[in-house]
Amino acid sequence: MKNFQKQYLTALFLALSFITSAQQKISLDDDWRFQFGHAANPDKDFDYGNKLLFHKSNVFETTVVNPKFIDTTWRKINVPHDWVVELPFVKSTTHEMDTHGYKPVGSAYPETSIGWYRKHFSIDKKDANKRFELQFDGIYRNATIWINGFYVGTNFSGYVGNSFDVTDYMNFESDNVLVVRVDATQAEGWFYEGAGIYRHVWLNVTNKFHIPQDGIFVHSEVQGKNASVTIETTLQNNNLITTNGTVYNLITDRNGKILVQTSEHKINLGIRKNITIKQKMKLTNARLWSVDDPYLYKVITVVKSGNHIVHQAQTRFGIKTVRFDANEGFFLNGKHLKIQGTNNHQDHAGIGSALPDYLQYYRIKLLKELGSNAYRASHNAPTPELLEACDSLGMLVIDEQRLLNSSPEYIDQFQRLIKRDRNHASVFLWSIGNEEQNIQGNDYGKKIAQTLLAIQKELDPTRTSTYAADMANEFKGVNEVIPIRGFNYREYAVADYHRDHPNQPLLGTEMGSTVTTRGIYEKDEIRAYVPDQDITHPWWASKAETWWKLAAENDYWLGGFVWTGFDYRGEPTPYKWPNISSHFGIMDVCGFPKNIYYYYQSWWTDKDVLHISPHWNWPEKTGQPIEVWVNSNADEIELFLNGKTVGKKVMPRNSHLKWQVNYEPGTLEAIGYKKGKKITSKVETTGTPYKVVLNTDKSILTANGKDATVFNVSIVDDKGREVPVADNRVLFALSGDAKIIGVGNGDPSSHEPDKCAEGAWQRSAFNGKCQVILLAGKTPGTVTLEAKSNGLFTASATIQIQ
Ligand code: GAL
Repeated sequence: MKNFQKQYLTALFLALSFITSAQQKISLDDDWRFQFGHAANPDKDFDYGNKLLFHKSNVFETTVVNPKFIDTTWRKINVPHDWVVELPFVKSTTHEMDTHGYKPVGSAYPETSIGWYRKHFSIDKKDANKRFELQFDGIYRNATIWINGFYVGTNFSGYVGNSFDVTDYMNFESDNVLVVRVDATQAEGWFYEGAGIYRHVWLNVTNKFHIPQDGIFVHSEVQGKNASVTIETTLQNNNLITTNGTVYNLITDRNGKILVQTSEHKINLGIRKNITIKQKMKLTNARLWSVDDPYLYKVITVVKSGNHIVHQAQTRFGIKTVRFDANEGFFLNGKHLKIQGTNNHQDHAGIGSALPDYLQYYRIKLLKELGSNAYRASHNAPTPELLEACDSLGMLVIDEQRLLNSSPEYIDQFQRLIKRDRNHASVFLWSIGNEEQNIQGNDYGKKIAQTLLAIQKELDPTRTSTYAADMANEFKGVNEVIPIRGFNYREYAVADYHRDHPNQPLLGTEMGSTVTTRGIYEKDEIRAYVPDQDITHPWWASKAETWWKLAAENDYWLGGFVWTGFDYRGEPTPYKWPNISSHFGIMDVCGFPKNIYYYYQSWWTDKDVLHISPHWNWPEKTGQPIEVWVNSNADEIELFLNGKTVGKKVMPRNSHLKWQVNYEPGTLEAIGYKKGKKITSKVETTGTPYKVVLNTDKSILTANGKDATVFNVSIVDDKGREVPVADNRVLFALSGDAKIIGVGNGDPSSHEPDKCAEGAWQRSAFNGKCQVILLAGKTPGTVTLEAKSNGLFTASATIQIQ
């Protein structure tokens, strides 16, 4: 058969087989019931602890686990759900509370630390012969799971998801009842973590002869212009007879055009046996994945038995080469690339840790615009959709298992993490831990690291690992065995370490950490604000300029990851209450840039950056000197106040410029010359708040009840200029099938709720801005958001749900 005919037929065959779909991934996100239990009183915990739940296989006692239990009075929710973000802020003096953002969760708050979730769903009788698997992408934390009265399993980790085979327990005649008890009395981190089923839940329905969860591993080797792609497919036979079948793989381009295909490999698999088949394909003229061209191919894996397709899976993958050189730095596809990374926790304004998938794209997009090319998922397994966003948008990822522990539980977590994530093009490095001060410098640390490194190599020989050590020039413990030495802070010691260990590549796993409050220019110990300039940092950290100059100017630095890209809840360094969120971000919790954003953007991109700070609204300072900062990558800059020059200066590389300017209202303008090209920027004294303005990132949403968008709100004067000190309260009203799911403003000391009652959504602006997050409904139509503020003109924005 001619090649194109064969391709055509295969494509047709695949298209048809997708219609008959050998397996299904069914979302179980909607229509849950939720109720708090109690961590200290079994009577208030639905008798958990009073009743026997594990003495017989099927719990038939009248407990919450029994499918007959009536939950109709429980609150209706959809997941992703984070119950902590809904709780009020509580003043406390405990360390636990301050690091977690002053939300009442943990052992001191037993009444809000246990969450019970119940969900009913039905399954068609025609599927009675299938295999059923529950997949939880992330539950915070220590979740105990039952279905139809049967214990299914426990997921201890608050971050690494898990899947459970529930085939034997399914009902086809009546409802299936899934019950999850989530216990957040213990924390895993020292930052806001949220609680609940905060990621997606799926029901995977497959044939019994199938590819198990994460059973496909695609990796590649670049050979000149071509690539050799290896696909390792695991098959499992859950039939009660030996089963024959075949497996083959094909690669398509990103539009689905078949490029190359393997032959069918025959399999004869005994009862409950697994087998892994390795198949190789050659891709000519391979288009490599990079941060500038994040090109993704697809592998389609087809499993047949008796001429029927019994399982068909699609895996997106990218082809790339990475090289870490101890002297020359990092190379992606043979090209030198300085790692310009950020660390991030996973919470966002308004919604805590329960992010609609779109928010993952939004946040990664903001980091890309900043000029960042790498993301460290500090300190835990990220949401799968975050990695998808990084694959698609071109962001390298350090995927991290934080706890340096090799007990079976943590080995299992690490294995699950690697198997889940090793096909992601964005993942370029694993991290086996972070700052284990008790063991990182001794033999325990070294031995555990060796065990984890061996596991990593076994499951993913194509990558290597780092460890985020808060150690200076110390070669002991983990540092003796870790392939890529990670420095958390201590940038001053990197040169000495390199001199002493010239063959170990060096990476700044946590760097910088200037604390800033967006739009604030004076330290305010009462409201707990720090100036929005590269000035203040904790004793263990440094200014942005200090570390970045070293990293930029020394090739032996692979680069580094700023602590952090976004502010996050908890860790309110350098203050405590009333400060409830961190100040470390280059952007605040909403993703609004602080001034330091423009420092990094100047030196991390080739864009024309010219940014003046502070704002120019200082009526009380007329005649007094104001320190003006200019962040830019222009070569020379001249500053003008109301048309009069204040002076021209040469911009030092990887730095910024400063002028003392006596304040008078009007316009402060900068003219920069960048390689002979003129660029300009200005700040102006604005009028008073006049109207509200709404800006959305996206005006068409999918009518699936899951798509979302962000509305950024500005308070502007009568000339449309944002008023940089405005703090007007904005009330939101919505019409159409959508709902507001959170509001925020980036004020690290705001105790306004992130979640409001239906019809009462509101938020004050903080230094001119606030944010609303909107979730699409399922009915196509028009949605209008109105933003009103007392005495100001109202803003109205319309989007389409379709
Ligand atoms: C590091 C730690 C981070 C965060 C940061 C705050 O030591 O790894 O999780 O706590 O300090 O500066």
